[in-house]
Amino acid sequence: MAAARSDALVFFGATGDLAYRQIFPALQALTRHGHLELPVIGVARSGWNLDQFRERARDSLAQYGTVDAATFDRLAARLRYISGDYHDGSTYEQLRRALGSASRPLHYLAIPPGMFEPVTRGLAASSCAAGARVIVEKPFGRDLASAQGLDRTLLARFAEDAIFRIDHYLGKEAVENLLYFRFANTFLEPVWHRGHVANVQITMAEAFGVQGRGAFYDEVGTIRDVVQNHLLQVLALLTMEPPLDGGPDAIRDEKLRVLRAVRPVAPGDAVRGQFRGYREVAGVRADSQVETFAALRLHVDNARWSRVPFYIRAGKCLPVTCTEVTVELKPPSPANFDIPGEGQSNYFRFRLSPDVAITIGARTKAPGEPLAGTAMALVARCHTGSEMTPYERLLGDALRGDAALFTRGDTIEAAWRVVDPILNDAVPVTPYEPATWGPSSASHLLAGGNRWHDPAPQEVLP
Ligand code: BG6
Repeated sequence: MAAARSDALVFFGATGDLAYRQIFPALQALTRHGHLELPVIGVARSGWNLDQFRERARDSLAQYGTVDAATFDRLAARLRYISGDYHDGSTYEQLRRALGSASRPLHYLAIPPGMFEPVTRGLAASSCAAGARVIVEKPFGRDLASAQGLDRTLLARFAEDAIFRIDHYLGKEAVENLLYFRFANTFLEPVWHRGHVANVQITMAEAFGVQGRGAFYDEVGTIRDVVQNHLLQVLALLTMEPPLDGGPDAIRDEKLRVLRAVRPVAPGDAVRGQFRGYREVAGVRADSQVETFAALRLHVDNARWSRVPFYIRAGKCLPVTCTEVTVELKPPSPANFDIPGEGQSNYFRFRLSPDVAITIGARTKAPGEPLAGTAMALVARCHTGSEMTPYERLLGDALRGDAALFTRGDTIEAAWRVVDPILNDAVPVTPYEPATWGPSSASHLLAGGNRWHDPAPQEVLP
């Protein structure tokens, strides 16, 4: 049975950074495509009026999108604004009145997790939670225990299937394609296991720093910001078993199963780095021990992946901006012609951003008399074919009640269990120079003569 569409969108934290950077551009896009025919109510503590709020929406589009005048006018006409304290019952009374006859609102909590308790309490007490769905942002908690606490708070007022936990990576075409490509191509399954895969690397490199988000970042760090969520989700898509069907729960069940098989990371399997100059960023503590780089060695203890090393690396101020997965196969038998050296085995490379490509690394005979080979790459450059941003995609899905691309509470907890042992100061932080690949100790994590594959600015032929 198709889920009922939400009939109003309410977003808390409406004057905040997330709304400014992501939500208004997504709202304009949804309006353009005819998917936002409902009241859109912003709630915030800023004491603004509706005109100021509309101006904020226009500024956001000028800064992070483009103002499409006709569409913006339609969106602006739908906007409502409620100014109030999140601890004050009258804020929710105003909201109930603004919702009018709407009986299935979608509440987007674009606010710090510390506010979830008063806001969900206020929604429940004013009947705004009845029939409603709720969206929450990542990172969901600071560790396993706090994520469990947030779940208790949300589940006290909303059913699990009414809670939409956003991880915007899951709204990216190239990430969804990992799942599709794996299970839609029969040539992959026979090699996709410990018998043939030598190691898997996932690198999320960003050439920029913390982009004016010093105070936020200094509370979070790389492991909480992108590893626990985006990169463990990518790992789950690469390693999960085939889902029983294409339904949201079948996929999420398999992701959960494989994340439960990932061994919690031992401190000796992790490196944390901090770029020089980070402590001078506004909002960052002068003696901060927070990491802006992390490298991890992981083990997936199940029949398919046992003893295959998985490496994850992410950081700010690295040489390029790129997210890439490399699955390296084992070398062929030494009896086969010339024996490939390090880095010459077959591989699959999934470039997830900024450009999207799938590369198959193979060997072919080099021209000439000797029976000797050379490396070649078969590159399928995929353009996403869709200008939908992850936020437009995910907000549209949540309005329709489609949870497939949202993370379930049990999966988030399984991911926290993996990184819990290396949070805070369990691993000392090592400085690194901006525009380098992080502390050199990251290369010591790799076993058996393996090297990190450093993504190029653009996928290029070798
Ligand atoms: C966010 C992190 O979740 O993802 C940021 O908070 C990071 O620190 C961003 O830069 C990367 O996402 P994208 O889609 O821009 O690659």
